[in-house]
This record gives sequence, C-alpha cells and structure tokens, in this order.
Amino acid sequence: MLTYLHIPFCDSKCHYCAFNSYVDKFSKRKDYMKAITKQLKYELKRFNPKPNSIKSLFIGGGTPSTVEPYMYKEFFDTLAPYLKQNAEITTEANPNSSSTQWLKGMQSLGVNRVSFGVQSFDEKKLKKLGRNHSKKQAIDAVNSAHKLGFKNISIDLIYATSFDVEDDIDIAFSLPINHISSYALTLEENTPFFEKTELTDDSTKLAGQFINKVTSKFTQYEISNFGEYQSIHNLGYWSGSDYIGIGAGAVGFLKNQRYYPNKDIEEYIKNPLHVKIEKLSCEELTTEKIFLGLRSKVGVDISILNAKQKLKLDILIEEKKLTCKDNKVYNNNNFLIADEIALYIIS
Ligand SMILES: C[S@@+](CC[C@H](N)C(=O)[O-])C[C@H]1O[C@@H](n2cnc3c(N)ncnc32)[C@H](O)[C@@H]1O
Ligand code: SF4
Repeated sequence: MLTYLHIPFCDSKCHYCAFNSYVDKFSKRKDYMKAITKQLKYELKRFNPKPNSIKSLFIGGGTPSTVEPYMYKEFFDTLAPYLKQNAEITTEANPNSSSTQWLKGMQSLGVNRVSFGVQSFDEKKLKKLGRNHSKKQAIDAVNSAHKLGFKNISIDLIYATSFDVEDDIDIAFSLPINHISSYALTLEENTPFFEKTELTDDSTKLAGQFINKVTSKFTQYEISNFGEYQSIHNLGYWSGSDYIGIGAGAVGFLKNQRYYPNKDIEEYIKNPLHVKIEKLSCEELTTEKIFLGLRSKVGVDISILNAKQKLKLDILIEEKKLTCKDNKVYNNNNFLIADEIALYIIS
C-alpha cells in the first residue's frame, strides 16, 4: 500500500499548469493541514493497513514547500505506525521556497527523498513557462538538499518545447541527483498556454533525442522517469498497488474503487471525509494494467488477458516490440510507442 498527500497551494501559477492548486488561499493553510489528518484517520480505518506495511508516502502538489514543516507533524505522527521501517518518503519542492531550513524540517519529520520542480535551467525558458525561480536557485536547492544528506534527489524537467533541452540535461548530470522525471509540455485547457501550439515541439524525433541523452546515464523505467534509483512509490503505483489519497485534488485507490476527496479547499476543510467513489469494471482495471505495465518496466501479467489479446501478443513478440519472461510481457525499451501497443492489444 502507498500514500499520496496533496498540497494545493502555490506561490504563483505557471502558465502551463492545470493541477489543483491555488495562489490566493494561504490563509486556509492551518485549517487545511488539520483537515488532512482527519481524512487520514478515516482512510486508515477504510484501507486498514497493517502496522509497518505502507511502502511509501509521496507529498505532491501544488507546492509542498509553501507549508512549514511543523504543520505536517500531526499528519506524520498519525501515519508513522503504519509506515514500513525504511519507507520511501518523498516531498516535491519548488526551488524558490525550499530553503535549507524547510528541507531540514522535512528531513527531521522523516522525509528521505526530494523531487525538485526545476523544469529548466534556462532563464528564458523559465520565464516563458511562468516559473518564479532562477537557474541559480534551482542549482542551490539541489546542492543544499545534498549537503543535508538527502541521498535520493530527483528533478522534474519539461521538454518538447521550442527551447533546446541539451544544456538542461548537461547541467542536471553535473548535480548530485539520481533521478529525473521529464514531461513533454502539454497544452492544457483553461491555462494560458492552451492552443499556443507554437510553444511545443512534440516530434517523436525530439523526444527520442531527449531520451537517448538521459539514458546515457540513467535507466528509463517509465515513459517519463529515469534514474540510478527507481522510486518505490512510482513502481507501486504502476503495479496497481492500493493507495491512500489524502487532500483536495488527491485520488485514492482500493481494490476496484477509486476515491476522490473534494477538490475545493473550503469544501474539503468543511468535510474532509466526503469522498466520491468510482467503481471500476473488470475491463477498466485490465485496460489500466495494460497501459501502466507497458509504459513502465513493470510489465503485464499474461493471465489477465483474454484469448484474442493473447494472440496479439504473439505478433508483438515476433516484431520484437515486447519481450516475454515468466508469464509476463514487457515493453522492449521503446516507451514512446507504449500507448500505441496497448491500444492495439485492447482494440
Ligand atoms: C504539478 S507539479 C507539482 C510540483 C511542483 N509544484 C512543481 O511545479 O514542480 C508536478 C510536475 O508536473 C509537470 N507538469 C505540470 N503541468 C504540466 C504540463 N502542462 N506539461 C508538462 N508537464 C507538466 C511539471 O514538470 C511539474 O514539475
Ligand atoms: S507547476 Fe507546480 S508550481 Fe507551477 S502552478 Fe503547477 S503545481 Fe504550482
């Protein structure tokens, strides 16, 4: 079992971002952080994890570094008995707000992995994306986490823009990180970037070049994730583990049901236990397992496929698009065509 905690506050809104985050609701922070512990207590009853069994906690956002470490304490104290001894505890952090003091505070709560939202080291690209940090702040944030003793440090980069990404990768590799998550710029609806197609360059050739360069040092273990270290939380999610989802904009998953807490901060604070439930059919669960398994190195258990789907596997194995081992099929290291393969299998 895994746990995800969503922090829906940001200092500013980036031009491309459609995530559930607010720049004008900081006054709700204290109440929000009380509400997440209430929801956690409720979910612990519903998910009923054994003591020392939760493999990972991922604090994402929004911007977790907009909330002071002491405000997380009650949440950590409540979850602690259920976390495995060496659980992976990751927090996302933005370079402009993750001061040494903040990182130290989170470290003393038990956080052992930091994922910095760097996006780029190019000042012009950062400005275009609407980020409010500089190249120097990004480099300093990574270095200060390293100095504090964080062994697992990741950065997020955005590629497939009209800007060159080669220098970003070179600078990333010069830093003490062991993981990169990289996302092709998506022009999301209801963001300033929507329909600004001149800002993207989503050619497969460019994506291929990006992947070639990153994989010269790091292993690609999912379409967007590369590392010397492979995140337990990510792998658990792609393997279909149950996960507790806490906070406004989080999602939880247990057996065949998905749970959606209120997205609206005020509504969430009023009633953190009001969680909408979506029941997934057997077919939906299988489709999800095929997509997640082929987009990552997790693979797909052949026994979940029907006879028609199994016949298609033979063709894909023959064409060397998939490999087969111990009753599972795996992507043959071309994650860019993972969705295409998955669609072919389920069609
Ligand atoms: C939602 S953010 C939360 C973490 C943190 N606030 C930050 O900005 O880095 C997680 C990651 O999603 C990615 N992301 C969000 N919207 C995106 C978009 N429209 N296209 C590509 N990547 C996006 C960014 O790389 C970002 O680091
Ligand atoms: S990308 Fe991160 S910092 Fe920017 S608005 Fe989205 S969640 Fe906030």
